[in-house]
Amino acid sequence: NTLPTSKQFAQKDGFRFFMEKEIYEQSDVVSDCMIGRIQDNSINFDEISPELLDGINEIKICACGTSYHAGLTSSYLFERLAKIKCNVEIASEFRYKEPLLTKDTLFIVISQSGETADTLEALKMAKKAGLKSVVVCNVDNSSMTRVADFTILTRAGIEKGVASTKAFSTQTVVLWMLALYFAKINSSISSELLQSEIKALREVPKSLIVEDRIHEKTKRLSKRYLHGHGFFFIGRDVFFPLALEGALKLKEISYLHAEGYPSGEMKHGPIALADPELFTIALMPQNLLYDKIKSNVEELSARDSTICSISSLEFELCDDFIKIQETNHYMLEFFEMLVVLQLFSMEISIRLGNDVDMPRNLAKSVTVE
Ligand code: G6P
Repeated sequence: NTLPTSKQFAQKDGFRFFMEKEIYEQSDVVSDCMIGRIQDNSINFDEISPELLDGINEIKICACGTSYHAGLTSSYLFERLAKIKCNVEIASEFRYKEPLLTKDTLFIVISQSGETADTLEALKMAKKAGLKSVVVCNVDNSSMTRVADFTILTRAGIEKGVASTKAFSTQTVVLWMLALYFAKINSSISSELLQSEIKALREVPKSLIVEDRIHEKTKRLSKRYLHGHGFFFIGRDVFFPLALEGALKLKEISYLHAEGYPSGEMKHGPIALADPELFTIALMPQNLLYDKIKSNVEELSARDSTICSISSLEFELCDDFIKIQETNHYMLEFFEMLVVLQLFSMEISIRLGNDVDMPRNLAKSVTVE
């Protein structure tokens, strides 16, 4: 009785799982989420106004799960581009740590559903302390949108797969645009840099198109990688949260043990686990800290870990290689790699015979503590 009805199958548009369909939809929904927000050579959000930053010296982000990874990614962008101090916390931790909240902090929560109990409570705490708040959310009229001062919708459309895909890519794009919007208000960005960032943003939909070649490669690799005893996903800078997201995807739907690590941290403990049955997925962008990650990969290779690199350039010390398109911006490499990571975990999960869309023990939205 597990075969889908014809109606259910139709909803998947011929894809095997909603997750697969949603991975393929990313290019389109990310285009939607930019409509009206990128105009000529500037970024605009009708939902907020430049006064939002009045008196603000810091951004605090709270979220859970995949949304937390989007938040972590954006913290690099808020600091790098808008020059605003930014820290990110897991909502369930934030709630009980007796956080010090000051009114010069802009509080941002990120949530696909707008209903996650811990994130909602964190938002209420910030409101109570008198902080200005913004929710980056996919569901209009959800609980968080009713509490936050401002709502920025991600326009990803309904996401059915429990493992989040298109919600994450749209969140990340919205937050990148927001960092640029703040950068402009703060005059912390040159017009040349702003133009090149906007140019890169416009290319994100292209980076999210699933290439047959890449999908086939992840299918082929899944055959071998499903036998891994454990996985490290490693990266630096924004590729560290991406590594966390890659590891989370694999855990969620394949039930394989995976850890995301900042690659520079491997030598402080995790590398002790390295052996041929330990598979490392190395995120090796050409446009950001390539030599640094390369030397981290060398260390792992010297300890016999089996390594698969995701990069536009092959590195001979890696056992396997998934080639992404060459681009001139690290965030485009980020989105290219994101698709690879999503497909990789999905293909392993399918091969293991798991229910990709409804993984055991997980819920799409966690509305209890
Ligand atoms: C659940 C889902 C995750 C999601 C997290 C946060 O754990 O399984 O995919 O990332 O909740 O959900 P939210 O709706 O707040 O983004």
